[in-house]
This record gives sequence, structure tokens and C-alpha cells, in this order.
Amino acid sequence: MSERDERTFVMVKPDGVQRGLIGEIVSRFEDRGLQLVAGKFMQIDEELAHEHYGEHEGKPFFEGLVEFITSGPVFAMVWEGTDATRQVRKMVGETDPAESAPGTIRGDFGLDLGHNVIHASDHEDPGANEREIDLFFDDEELVDYDLDASTWVYEDVDE
Ligand code: RTP
Ligand code: MG
Repeated sequence: MSERDERTFVMVKPDGVQRGLIGEIVSRFEDRGLQLVAGKFMQIDEELAHEHYGEHEGKPFFEGLVEFITSGPVFAMVWEGTDATRQVRKMVGETDPAESAPGTIRGDFGLDLGHNVIHASDHEDPGANEREIDLFFDDEELVDYDLDASTWVYEDVDE
């Protein structure tokens, strides 16, 4: 991994999986030039849900959020690239799809705050990306490789 690169955690939520949006969402990050480092189709249990959304424990929407995120399979991923966490959040849109700009994932595929299709690490919470990657993936599940397209995505590739 080059020095300027950053990894971020992204997850298609149960509504996105059921609506057949995994491929569309993966394509958007591929098209942007980001590099896929890991991916896992899985079911989140109660314990993992509490850990992942621990910052929201005690809030009125917390129990509903845990129920939703454990209600069906999710597709968890790690994506890498320059400024990846912030760039991915920009592609995801606002928390509420109704406030998300067209062209963003939530703005194109959602209408409801509780069913907002995708999770991505918060770029305003330093360390959230690394913490979430560690929570969902073992080190050996993160694949190190050179993406040929990177030589065209970036002006300078320092490897
Ligand atoms: P996420 O963590 O799922 O990527 O979403 P986010 O950063 O955009 O928003 P966050 O504040 O972390 O909230 C986590 C999820 O909880 C639900 N939520 N409901 N009823 C409410 O006021 C409320 N606020 C948040 C949303 O589904 C949000 O994605
Ligand atoms: Mg969040």
C-alpha cells in the first residue's frame, strides 16, 4: 500500500442486498478508481451490531437500527485509495436519503432514513475506518495487490 493511500469500511445493508444493489454499488467504487481490498457476504449477529453501532447506544433509534442491520445478510467491503474515507462518504450522501443529492448512492436508491442502503466509515471520526475494518475482517482477509488501473487513476503512483 502506498503512503498516501487510505482504507475505509463499506457495507451494503440488508435493504440494499434485498433490492439487488450489491453489483451497482460495487461498480460505483470500481468506476471511481478505488481498489477493492476485501469483501464478505455475511449475517451480522446482535453482538457485532452492538459493537459496530456502539456510538448510538441509548439513542431512541438504536434498537430499531440493531434489528434492521441483523435482519438479513449484508455485503461488507474494504476499499482503498487516496482520501478514501472522505471520498466514499461523499459518494454515499447524507444519512437521510431524502436529503441526499441525486448522484449519490442514498440519493439515487433511498427515500427513508431507516433504510438507507449503505454504511460507510465516518470521515469525521478519526480511526473509525481502521476500527471498523478490524471489527469485520481478519488481517489475512485483506488482500495486498497492485491494481494496474491505478497507474491511470493517479498521476503519480509511488509503490
Ligand atoms: P451509517 O453509520 O449507517 O453509515 O450512517 P451514518 O453514518 O450516515 O449515520 P449515523 O449517524 O451513524 O446513524 C446510523 C444509522 O442510524 C439511523 N439513524 N436514525 N431516527 C434517527 O434520527 C436516526 N438517525 C440515524 C440511520 O439508518 C443511520 O444510517
Ligand atoms: Mg455512522
